[in-house]
Amino acid sequence: MAALDEPYDYYPQEWISPYIDRRRKVGWDLYSLLGIEKGDKARMHAQHGRNYRFFGAPVGLMFTIDRHMGRGSLIDYGMFLQNIMIAARGRGLDTCPQAAFNAFHQVIAEQLDIPDQQMFVCGMSLGYADTSRVENSLVTNRVAVEEFTTFHQR
Ligand SMILES: Cc1cc2nc3c(=O)[nH]c(=O)nc-3n(C[C@H](O)[C@H](O)[C@H](O)COP(=O)(O)O)c2cc1C
Repeated sequence: MAALDEPYDYYPQEWISPYIDRRRKVGWDLYSLLGIEKGDKARMHAQHGRNYRFFGAPVGLMFTIDRHMGRGSLIDYGMFLQNIMIAARGRGLDTCPQAAFNAFHQVIAEQLDIPDQQMFVCGMSLGYADTSRVENSLVTNRVAVEEFTTFHQR
């Protein structure tokens, strides 16, 4: 079996504040909605494992990019992904982009015959959100615009 490594650094090598704090908050907010308590590793793993069943969605998408392209193309690719997500909403569909697949990019490449020249970017679930499921009611925080913007005036 292929080693579990990442196709590219999606996350920083080392998490620092404030990003780690925000990441933890989203995680604990989700687990608290689901009634999963700290230390309940079995339920945490089970929830994480739902990624690999596309959360029950009927369509799973896998995205790759030509390795020839530069890092900047990942910016373009993010816009491409967002366009797919917005287009899906426009058609009454819902998505969940998934970096959870990245650690398994070698297995995915083998199973889907993805050429070596293509780098795995991420996966995505596509379907209709089940609004009766509590995890779909998660609302994440947004920092105020003033907190991350510097306005310059003449
Ligand atoms: C590039 C990317 C990768 C993501 N990977 C995962 C994932 O692997 N599993 C998951 O459940 N959600 C994943 N998400 C969804 C985030 O968890 C989701 O965006 C989060 O609920 C925050 O919602 P917000 O983007 O509206 O703040 C990902 C989102 C993005 C943009």
